[in-house]
Amino acid sequence: MKAIASIGYKVHFGKNVFKELNSFLTKNKYSKYFVICDQNSFHNCYTELLTNCKKLQSAEIIEIDPGESSKNLDTCAQIWETMLELNADRNTLVINLGGGVVSDMGGFIASVYKRGVDFINIPTTLLSMADASVGGKTGIDFANLKNVIGTITQPKAVFVNINYLSSLSQRDTKNGAAEILKMALVSDKVLWKRMKSDYELKSIGEYLYRSVELKNRFVKKDPSEKNVRKALNFGHTIGHAVEAVLLGTDDELLHGEAVIVGMIAESFISYKKKLITKNDLDEIVSCFKNTFTLSPVHPQHFTAIDLLILNDKKNSNGKVLFSLLDKIGSCKINQIVPAILVKSSLEYYNSVVHDKN
Ligand SMILES: NC(=O)c1ccc[n+]([C@@H]2O[C@H](COP(=O)([O-])OP(=O)(O)OC[C@H]3O[C@@H](n4cnc5c(N)ncnc54)[C@H](O)[C@@H]3O)[C@@H](O)[C@H]2O)c1
Repeated sequence: MKAIASIGYKVHFGKNVFKELNSFLTKNKYSKYFVICDQNSFHNCYTELLTNCKKLQSAEIIEIDPGESSKNLDTCAQIWETMLELNADRNTLVINLGGGVVSDMGGFIASVYKRGVDFINIPTTLLSMADASVGGKTGIDFANLKNVIGTITQPKAVFVNINYLSSLSQRDTKNGAAEILKMALVSDKVLWKRMKSDYELKSIGEYLYRSVELKNRFVKKDPSEKNVRKALNFGHTIGHAVEAVLLGTDDELLHGEAVIVGMIAESFISYKKKLITKNDLDEIVSCFKNTFTLSPVHPQHFTAIDLLILNDKKNSNGKVLFSLLDKIGSCKINQIVPAILVKSSLEYYNSVVHDKN
C-alpha cells in the first residue's frame, strides 16, 4: 500500500512500515525518545515495535491507564512532570503508541511542551488508524466536555501497522468501524454500500486505507476546520454529548459507539429537515442495527445532553450548528437545529433500539 501524503507528513501503511520508521529516525536526529502508551498498547504492541526498531531501545516509556477517563489535564500534568524530570529538551520526539486516547493526548502534550516538540503516531486501534492519528487534532476532555482543550498540530509522520489489530477486542474493532462508516456516509457512497453488506469486516485493511485517503482530502482542503472539514463531525454533535454524559457511569460508551447513537439521531434530523429520504434513513438505521449492539439513552440524560450541545465547539453566535447528511455519501455543514428536534431525534433513536424488527 502506498503512503498517503498529508500536510507536510506521510501516513505509512503495509509491510514496510517499520522500515519507514527506521529511516525516519535515521533522517531526523532527536535528543531523546518518549513513548506514550497505555497498559494495553504497551502489552500488545511494544515488543513488536522494539524488535523492529532498535533505535527505540533507549526510549523512555510513559504508560497511562487505558480508557477515555485518562484523557484529562491531570494525566497531562503527570506526563509533563516526568518529561521535565527526565530532561526532555526541545529536540525530543514523542511517540504515541496507542489508540485515540493516546494519540489525542500525546499529540497535545507534545504540541505545547516547551512551546512544542515533534511527535509521531503509531496507532494501535482501528479507530486511531482510521481517524484519530491523522489530521492533527490533538486534545483532552475538560469540564465534562469532549476535546475542549487542544491544538491543531500535525504529527511528523504516522505509521500504521495493521498487525496490531489482531489483539483488539471485537468491541473495539466495531468501535473503529463506526468512524469508517461515518467517513463513507459523508463522502463515499460506494464505500458505504460495500461496508454495509460486509458485516464481518473481512476487508478491513482496504476500508481503512480508503478511509484515511478520504479523511486526508478534507484535512488538506481545510486543516483548521473552518469549512469543509466540518463534514467529518457528522454524528459527533450528539455523539460527543452522549459520550460525555455517560462517561464514568455503568452505561459508558466507547467513542465510536456514541458516534453511532449520534449518526442515527442526526440522520433522523437530516430526514426531518428534508435533506435525505425516508429510504435513506431506513437504510442507515438498518445497517447500524444489524452491525452494532445498540443501547437506549435514558431520557433522564436528555437535558444534560442538550446543555452539552449548547457548548459544542462547532456552534457560532449562540446558534447550534450541525453537519447533516444531504444524501448518502454527501454532507451539508453549518445546519441550524432547534433543541426540540434534538430531543425528538433521541426519542427516535430509543424507538429504533426498542423496535425488535
Ligand atoms: N483526533 C481526532 O481526529 C479523533 C478522531 C476520532 C476519535 N478521536 C478520539 O479517539 C478516542 C477513541 O479512540 P480509541 O477508540 O482508539 O480509544 P482508546 O485509545 O481508549 O483505545 C480503546 C481500547 O483499546 C485498547 N488498545 C489499544 N491498542 C490495543 C491493541 N492493539 N490490542 C488490544 N487493545 C488495545 C486501549 O487500551 C483501550 O482500552 C476518543 O478520545 C476520541 O475523542 C480523535
